[in-house]
Amino acid sequence: MGEWRGGLVVMVLAMVVMYEGLVVDVEGAGAWRVVTKNAGITAMHAAVAPVTGNVVLLHQTNNGPSNMTFPDGRCKYYPDDRFLPKDCFVHSVIIDPNSGVVRPLFFQTDTQCSSGQFLRDGTLGQTGGDREGTQITRTLPFKCMYVNPTDKICDWVESSQKMAANTRWYATNQLLPDGRQIVVGGRGSPSYEFVPPYTVPPPKYDMPFLNVTSFDGPDKTKNGPNNIYPYVYLLPSSGYLYIFANRDSIIFDYKNNVVIRSFPQIPGNPRNYPSGGSSVMLPLTWQNGFKNKVEVVVCGGATVTWVANNSMPQPYCSVSCGRIEVTKAGSDWAMENMDIPRCMGDMVLLPDTNVLIINGAQRGWQGWDNAAEPAKNPILYNPTKPAGQRFTTLDAPPSGTPRMYHSTANLLTDGSVMVAGSNTNEFYKFTNNNKYWPPPGRFFPTELSVETFTPPYAGLGDRPVILSSNATTVKFNSVLQIVFWDNISQNPSTDTFLFTLNPPAFSTHSFSHGQRLVSLQALKITTTSGTQNGKPGNMRTVDLQIPVYTTVLPPAYYMLWVVKNGNPSVSCLWIQTR
Ligand SMILES: *[C@@H]1O[C@H](CO)[C@@H](O)[C@H](O)[C@H]1NC(C)=O
Ligand SMILES: *[C@@H]1O[C@H](CO)[C@@H](O)[C@H](O)[C@H]1NC(C)=O
Ligand SMILES: *[C@@H]1O[C@H](CO)[C@@H](O)[C@H](O)[C@H]1NC(C)=O
Ligand SMILES: *[C@@H]1O[C@H](CO)[C@@H](O)[C@H](O)[C@H]1NC(C)=O
Ligand SMILES: *[C@@H]1O[C@H](CO)[C@@H](O)[C@H](O)[C@H]1NC(C)=O
Repeated sequence: MGEWRGGLVVMVLAMVVMYEGLVVDVEGAGAWRVVTKNAGITAMHAAVAPVTGNVVLLHQTNNGPSNMTFPDGRCKYYPDDRFLPKDCFVHSVIIDPNSGVVRPLFFQTDTQCSSGQFLRDGTLGQTGGDREGTQITRTLPFKCMYVNPTDKICDWVESSQKMAANTRWYATNQLLPDGRQIVVGGRGSPSYEFVPPYTVPPPKYDMPFLNVTSFDGPDKTKNGPNNIYPYVYLLPSSGYLYIFANRDSIIFDYKNNVVIRSFPQIPGNPRNYPSGGSSVMLPLTWQNGFKNKVEVVVCGGATVTWVANNSMPQPYCSVSCGRIEVTKAGSDWAMENMDIPRCMGDMVLLPDTNVLIINGAQRGWQGWDNAAEPAKNPILYNPTKPAGQRFTTLDAPPSGTPRMYHSTANLLTDGSVMVAGSNTNEFYKFTNNNKYWPPPGRFFPTELSVETFTPPYAGLGDRPVILSSNATTVKFNSVLQIVFWDNISQNPSTDTFLFTLNPPAFSTHSFSHGQRLVSLQALKITTTSGTQNGKPGNMRTVDLQIPVYTTVLPPAYYMLWVVKNGNPSVSCLWIQTR
């Protein structure tokens, strides 16, 4: 931190920082950056580690070689592996998104189509997968979130306590206020359970909602899942879950296994796997003590025909997005269209409360060999604008690398979004050497590259710098004081400030498990004008109210942002709630 000279002191009491009033004037196209051309593996799951900001990437076993072997010659032995009973290839890494340096991470059991959440102490909790991994729970300890950890070997730890469901893959996890993960649904599992369980052996709880929504298309005749990787959100104040599966959704009391409310079906196609839609719960705001309205947006989807037909082009994905107020009885979907059809995209909540929609295809659906026509341009969705004015297409050169099935998107600590993966093939495949399948136009090489996309925000001018806080761990219903620096605006009287928090989410299969964004009330802002490193600016001290409800910010690590006139701070501050 540089030299600081203070000057005039201005006190602004109870400054109201309005989410509704924020004008985000989106200009510019954003910018791409290559982190590495070869991370050694392709990412099927990705999560940003608390405090270090490094990113954990996870693929699968039972799928042949990756592009990297362990430098220390380690191998795993599993006689029933489909292709490599002796497997010396790396299937998980942690990557520094600034330098592109990767460190391989070792695990034993298959993680294909698994799920996860960061736990309250910063451990990455991770559950299920395919084959021998389907009932397994794993953790990656907080101390291992480095590319150069103190312990030379610092890897995934697999538990001997198996989960209750016979198959727990394509499930969705959500961190609960008591520190457990709820694991909801998955292929062949219309049930939910808790990790760690409340009792041993772990019970599972049947969920008829996931049974009745498990079919393809309106005729209900085909036996496809179409409701797996359900969209699950922990609601503030009530503590219930909102769960969306196929085209239906409910408010669910998981403590008593009771459906509190059912909503009408969303118009159009099914939205969950394999239809490849995406979803976010819109930002939760402090106004009205977090009892105010909560809205959910679902974008994209597909008609899944399950017909492998070389001579038929894949149908277009859904162009529509639906938005619904889930805190109101009797509410229905309000529909809007995106600029282009998209499935297998990812929706990422940005610190400024906009939503980035990135990755995906314009045709096809999830599963090997099914995607066609990449959706290369990201789009921004501004939830505060009126319907019809919410979408902006971003056209940063060069156009994005195709990232279709099995790709990921995660908000990084500098406000950019890291994209990784894309593998529409079984195995790592770099050339289409089978002239019959997949047909031309449906072959895309396995992506080992990792990139970032920096959204334009409000033109990326004047980004504040967070200098300090008086605590890194905060209790519920307490006050956190932070200090930040920003430039003197041309029109200081029109400056707006927003203080937002988000947990690092677990991104896989077009859904970021646990994703939420919360705006905090600023009780008091004190501004001191002066110079830092010889440059004029404002030093501001802000008292932020941490919410009363543990359901707003379940105990965990969060990224805290200061957003000035739509520009997020140059980096976030990590704080832990408890
Ligand atoms: C990874 O890919 C590079 C470039 O194609 C190749 O030279 C190298 O042999 C591969 N490594 C492994 C372990 O597959
Ligand atoms: C799921 O539905 C099928 C038929 O629709 C029924 O036979 C089965 O018992 C149901 N299972 C559960 C767990 O509800
Ligand atoms: C494949 O598509 C072509 C062209 O639409 C159609 O003529 C043919 O019947 C289809 N084959 C199958 C097996 O569905
Ligand atoms: C903030 O002010 C400094 C010094 O005047 C300037 O170099 C910098 O570009 C400004 N930052 C922005 C984002 O305007
Ligand atoms: C941080 O500052 C706030 C506001 O002054 C105060 O309420 C809180 O107790 C302080 N926290 C610590 C850990 O000192």
